[in-house]
Amino acid sequence: MQIHHDIPALRAALQGRGPIAFVPTMGNLHDGHLALVRQARAAVGPQGLVVASIFVNRLQFAPHEDFDRYPRTLARDAELLDGAGCDWVFAPDEAAMYPEPQGYKVHPPAELADILEGHFRPGFFVGVCTVVAKLFNIVQPQVAVFGKKDYQQLMVIRRMVAQMALPIEILAGETERSPQGLALSSRNGYLSETQKQQALLLSRTLKQLIARWQAGERDLAVLEEDAMQALRHAGWQPDYVTLRRQHDLGEARDGEPLVALGAARLGATRLIDNLEA
Ligand code: PAF
Repeated sequence: MQIHHDIPALRAALQGRGPIAFVPTMGNLHDGHLALVRQARAAVGPQGLVVASIFVNRLQFAPHEDFDRYPRTLARDAELLDGAGCDWVFAPDEAAMYPEPQGYKVHPPAELADILEGHFRPGFFVGVCTVVAKLFNIVQPQVAVFGKKDYQQLMVIRRMVAQMALPIEILAGETERSPQGLALSSRNGYLSETQKQQALLLSRTLKQLIARWQAGERDLAVLEEDAMQALRHAGWQPDYVTLRRQHDLGEARDGEPLVALGAARLGATRLIDNLEA
């Protein structure tokens, strides 16, 4: 497996290669990422090229967030990617990705990007869209794979690709979970063993919210507040727990595919999860 650190060398090596399937990551990989790599391989077949990027993108972190302590584990990540069938890794440093302050940015529409995660992490999706658009320009993949674990991110990227007419097919990877149901996340590494047990409550709360909706309860404000209370009682600090339409995360309505989404802080760690209804 080749590891490239700079853009011109990667571009030269990519000349005439393809089809390319791309998996962008921030590293500190787990089985969820490796499942995306396998999905990328299945999409382009044995003759295609699977490229993963590893870049902790400062633009999507607010000043109080965990940019500095986000684990940088390139050697281990490279081994895992190799084992999962990745061909090339693009692991630029900050000077390669942002040789000058990134003044040109991609601003996604407020109705999709300033709600939920975007409401609690202002500017987050500007950072994500800017780096993903830049990575797409560098790697020029035909296919890119994003996990449903970051459901809103997947929707924001899908809409960006559609509106900008980028010739890239966006594939959605299912969320990988521990046998007990905890969604795999790089941030689980911040949790103690006790907190890992407690963390199961987030997906259980989402399940309960869906169950009540499916049983016919329609007062969403009550359903959402009950879900937040359940988390608060167990010592969490929830940002939101909500039921939305899948395709644009608008208000939940009967007869449309729905998704329950939640974000909450357990101790110092902020976790997100979602379940499609
Ligand atoms: O999902 C992530 O790991 C990041 O948001 C991404 C898509 C790699 C952009 O930095």
